[in-house]
Amino acid sequence: MHRWLRWPTDPHRPRLGFGADYNPEQWPRHVWRDDARAMRTAGVNIVSLAIFSWARIQPGADTWDFAWLDEVMDLLHAHDIAVDLATATASPPPWLTAAHPEILPVDRDGRTVWPGARQHWRPTSPVFREHALILVRAMAERYGDHPALAAWHISNELGCHNVYDYSDDAAAAFRRWLQDRYGTVEELNRAWATTFWSQRYGDWDQILPPRRTGASSYPNPTQQLDFKRFSSDALREHLRAERAVLLELTPDVPVTTNFMVMGETRGMDYASWAAELDFVANDHYVVPGPQGPDEQSFSANLVGNLAGGLPWYLMEHSTSAVNWQPVNVAKAPGELARDSLTHVAHGADAVCFFQWRQSAGGAEKYHSAMLPHAGEDSAVFRDVCSLGATLRDLSAVAGTPRTPARAAIVFDWDSWWASEQDSHPTDRLRYRQEALDWYTAFLELGIRADVVPAGGVWEGYELLVAPILYVVPAGLAERLTQYVAAGGHLVTTYFSGIVDEHEHVWLGGYPGALRELLGIRIEEFAPLLDDERAELDNGATGTLWTDRIDVTDPGAEILARYKTGAQAGRPAITRRSHGPGSAAYVSTRLGPAALQPVLAELAARAGVTSELPPDLRGRVELAVRGPHRFLINRTGRTVDVSAVAGPGALLAPRGVLVASQGGTP
Ligand code: GLA
Repeated sequence: MHRWLRWPTDPHRPRLGFGADYNPEQWPRHVWRDDARAMRTAGVNIVSLAIFSWARIQPGADTWDFAWLDEVMDLLHAHDIAVDLATATASPPPWLTAAHPEILPVDRDGRTVWPGARQHWRPTSPVFREHALILVRAMAERYGDHPALAAWHISNELGCHNVYDYSDDAAAAFRRWLQDRYGTVEELNRAWATTFWSQRYGDWDQILPPRRTGASSYPNPTQQLDFKRFSSDALREHLRAERAVLLELTPDVPVTTNFMVMGETRGMDYASWAAELDFVANDHYVVPGPQGPDEQSFSANLVGNLAGGLPWYLMEHSTSAVNWQPVNVAKAPGELARDSLTHVAHGADAVCFFQWRQSAGGAEKYHSAMLPHAGEDSAVFRDVCSLGATLRDLSAVAGTPRTPARAAIVFDWDSWWASEQDSHPTDRLRYRQEALDWYTAFLELGIRADVVPAGGVWEGYELLVAPILYVVPAGLAERLTQYVAAGGHLVTTYFSGIVDEHEHVWLGGYPGALRELLGIRIEEFAPLLDDERAELDNGATGTLWTDRIDVTDPGAEILARYKTGAQAGRPAITRRSHGPGSAAYVSTRLGPAALQPVLAELAARAGVTSELPPDLRGRVELAVRGPHRFLINRTGRTVDVSAVAGPGALLAPRGVLVASQGGTP
């Protein structure tokens, strides 16, 4: 069920949320008033509060100090600023870890993860859970009726630092999880293929997390994959446990937690978490580099689809530099607004930052904020104020769902996790990068494409790209077959359809589960060495991977062949028609530029075309929310968008323009 923020005042007025993480505990009391005043100046209407306040709220097992938080909540409310209030459980205080060191996580090598930073707790520790839930209860009892409370913010970025815990608590919970999944040890033995290397288990108690094994000796792959699934589920269990307390005490207050759909952050299968929340929230930090903005759009797009197309909350991004990359570069002019509005374009109804006031001490003092060290007389603060005004002007967008595209990229955490495990044909394969390259190719062609979870509903898309769909259980193979039979156009790539849910190979030739559908058969993989290239007869160059393909169905066309290398003369790209539908296969890594003509042909044959005029394709990204069309300038130059946004409309470098049917905004 989707429940949006409970705006304390004027609940029905359409508005976009605007604000930040607010950490008043880092500042003396007299600064708080100044904060509230400057927030008003900037147009802030919501803040996330108390995220790392456990030690301040509960300074000892039996001591509580809510007075300061009462004051901050009241102050914010008096300034018409709503609160997304944290349950405050993200980082346990020293008194707790000193009394209960058994809550500290243990790494793969058996080393304790010590306190001193944050999130040093085992997701499966019953002792941690008990203390966390006492705090959640205290917060809900204290603030459940506070007029500023707009939503609950469970913990913070669950799994950011503690997703993989190999402790004895984790071992016990892993066994319980496996019992639920397999029922009997025999069934687990079958799924884990334990006849291999004498790994057969006689009893549940013998099973461990995949702790450190000998050098160059690979732990059981299904055990590794199940441990990843379990670890994501264990954090979700924690989320559920906190939510249950909130539901009991404050059933009317919506609940969220901040996901980390960004870059290579991969530990949490958010497709299986989204249903736990009243609304989805995400944190995103731009990955430096030329594909950075595309990656941002890709992530925002995926979050929008995890949210089922409904509005979601951008909980954190940065006004400028972060502090945790090797070199932390400040944002160029225009990037702050472009980044924020890219998320709005993909369905965000709240745009928030880490954090409100830049810290003076602590590990994040060089992380940008809405109010920087330089103070209000700064370019960042002026940009923040201008963004606040822009978001106010865009109020009419609030509440509008995303408008689905006609094409989609399928994203699958199981395939991401499994395809990059060890002891495979190559360790160079990068699942998310391949998916992102296809997304960039779509952007370059000016064709709108959604990024959708594999378990979601994608039957309505006319063109479906499933890059490196490595794990294909029988049910998914069946769904894909029906999709194509019903007229859908499927495109898949190397290392797809190879294994079932237990990471057991589908036999008889690759790509096992999709072999019939694609009308091809591969006897052996042919990954490339780092300096090897495979030229194709369409002018493209493949890297990373090739396949030795035999076309088995006479109806399968060869769209490109290898011209050089061990596969010279053999098919590189194939497409088999199935009545009105088709299934295509790209057997090498082409990268975004060489994917473009391939995708252009496949899209054209699927009847999927760009919604942009030819001269804007590639230069402008289009995202649609009902009557609101967002045009995002992908270049560093001014672009004339009068063809879509009315006479004289210009899009500044890195600018975003919202063209709405009916005039506003
Ligand atoms: C994460 C955390 C924040 C902060 C930012 C810095 O997103 O949730 O508390 O550490 O990173 O980028």
